Amino acid sequence: MTSQYSEIYQSWQDDPEEFWAIAAKEIDWYEPAKKIFNPSANVYGEWFEGALCNTCYNCVDRHVDGVRADQPALIYDSPITGAKKTYTYRQLKDEVVALAAVLKDRGVEKGDRVIIYMPMAPEASFAMLACARLGAVHSVVFGGFAAAELATRIDDAEPKVIISASCGIEPGRIIAYKPLLDEAIELSSRKPTSTIILQREQLPCDMIDGRDFDYAAETRKAIVEGREIACTPVAATDPLYILYTSGTTGQPKGVIRDNGGHMVALKWTMSAFYGVAPGEVWWAASDVGWVVGHSYITYGPLLHGATSILFEGKPVGTPDAGTFWRIISEHKVVALFTAPTAFRAIKKEDPEGKLIKDYDLSNFRTLFLAGERADPDTIQWAERHLKKPVIDHWWQTETGWPIAGNPAGLGFLPVKYGSPCVPMPGYHMEVLSDDGAPLERNELGNIVIKMPLPPGCLPSLWHADDRFREAYLTEFPGYYQTADAGYMDEDGYLFIMARTDDIINVAGHRLSTGGMEEVVAAHPDIAECAVVGIADKLKGQLPAGFFILNSGVTRDVAEIEKEVIALVRQKIGPVAAFKIAIPVARLPKTRSGKILRGTIQKIADGEAYKVPATIDDPAILDEITEVLKARGIC
Ligand code: COA
Ligand code: AMP
Repeated sequence: MTSQYSEIYQSWQDDPEEFWAIAAKEIDWYEPAKKIFNPSANVYGEWFEGALCNTCYNCVDRHVDGVRADQPALIYDSPITGAKKTYTYRQLKDEVVALAAVLKDRGVEKGDRVIIYMPMAPEASFAMLACARLGAVHSVVFGGFAAAELATRIDDAEPKVIISASCGIEPGRIIAYKPLLDEAIELSSRKPTSTIILQREQLPCDMIDGRDFDYAAETRKAIVEGREIACTPVAATDPLYILYTSGTTGQPKGVIRDNGGHMVALKWTMSAFYGVAPGEVWWAASDVGWVVGHSYITYGPLLHGATSILFEGKPVGTPDAGTFWRIISEHKVVALFTAPTAFRAIKKEDPEGKLIKDYDLSNFRTLFLAGERADPDTIQWAERHLKKPVIDHWWQTETGWPIAGNPAGLGFLPVKYGSPCVPMPGYHMEVLSDDGAPLERNELGNIVIKMPLPPGCLPSLWHADDRFREAYLTEFPGYYQTADAGYMDEDGYLFIMARTDDIINVAGHRLSTGGMEEVVAAHPDIAECAVVGIADKLKGQLPAGFFILNSGVTRDVAEIEKEVIALVRQKIGPVAAFKIAIPVARLPKTRSGKILRGTIQKIADGEAYKVPATIDDPAILDEITEVLKARGIC
């Protein structure tokens, strides 16, 4: 089919409000918007002002009231536990209403915050929807974060209730969540009044009397009592959730998502971008703790009336590199969305793609990759073995949906390897120099989005409008700074090359090296440190820490290395994958004392680098090269 992309993008450029007003017809509103966009509200404007709606109603109730009551809404497939369960939209509603009743009994009302710290169990999605039903604001915290990270989020979000589980399951080990939760609550200064705990048979936990409530027992009681909890109408501009993401310090940024714009944007993407029809089976192989899980495990597919797969497992090792193909064939998945790292892991285990041949993938149409740069090798491997289009697309936690991509629903454009293709309607992209001047096509610079951001993108940061302005809107007035560097070619294709801040992407997980430096620097024997992201064949990037000991420290440095690694795991969590800590005598710096992290990274990656003109002592670069060579890193 000829792509309708140019025509649709043009129609958005001609009249953005009309474009989104038409898209909004796909959502059920209690009250329609009085204004599609009000540029003077909030920090930079607000979408669908005056509208009243409920996200849970649109994800669940309207399908039960319509024709989809008995259609599968959610398929839980957990190769790691052996469990499989399908929930129809009617059963999903029963689960969500019961949990909403439990939350209400624990005092949760519209606007209250609820933290969800869960493994990939279906109850994580029920919890998100139950909050949405009550107009409460959820904040999901990824299970791979440690207690201290959870505590930071508790202090910032001030939740009335936390929903959690007794354990998570990783290949070869069971992670007791409850001690982490208890420790986080202990560390936090804004303690929740209660917790609701899903007891999992793999490792049940002790409960604290009066504070901890049993998920299964409480929801069962609500079902037996026939509790009915109606959807609470909220303003389209009210927050649906807060999702904390790495910023440039250890203090994460609380990205806010509103109700109305979010629904309109996600619903539009399901058909126009991903090319999925209501009733079809869709799979986002991510985790509910990340933005992909929010947008495309829970909300997007359910708003659309599709069936969403909730997968608890890994691309390899649960049990083998054929798991993805088993799920696609068994559940008749039409499209899969995952991170390139998952495919690199599969390719490593099964380079010839032999396991693919064991499965019937006839329903499968498209593979979507995002979360990190998709290297052409991985894309071409997937294309060769799947014989289906493989689509790289680019977005961020902040935007909540694709900024750029090749739209399956509007018809594909030609693929250019290394590019996530073209901007989606809603996004007017430009590339600027560091002093804000527009750059020519093919010139590398700062990628920015002309304000305002489209519906679904963050309206601000939680209780931090000033930080929002400062982090995103100040450096290039009139634009949102993506903090990605790259260029646009003569055909309007974007190329995303690197972050301009200290964020790194490890196995598709977004992490701050600044946050890790704060932890390393806190070690009592360490005077100074630098953490950089170095290239890794499997995970894309890995953090590497370089540290200088305090003078007079005579302890075994190998012991200190181990302690530093353990400290990052304990303070940030295993997800940081921090396993390289290297003692150095000196760190390269500019004459003004700024550590040359970019240059260290280039040395580690074996890339050519220019000795910065402002360097204090160029000999330190040779010292770093020697240390890295000795470790076999470069
Ligand atoms: N709870 C507790 N621990 C977790 C966790 C969770 N939810 N998720 C990951 N971890 C742990 C892992 O067990 C691992 O621990 P280890 O150091 O003891 O081995 C550590 O955190 C690092 O995890 P990860 O970087 O994911 O590495 P891995 O070796 O376990 O798996 C991949 C590598 C590529 C298979 C895996 O990262 C993957 O499937 N990625 C898919 C991409 C994805 O989901 N991206 C999200 C955005 S789309
Ligand atoms: P997150 O907020 O976790 O989704 O991470 C967002 C960041 O991941 C972006 O700012 C990019 O740096 C990177 N990223 C995401 N998708 C892509 C992609 N398709 N190509 C290159 N980088 C990407």
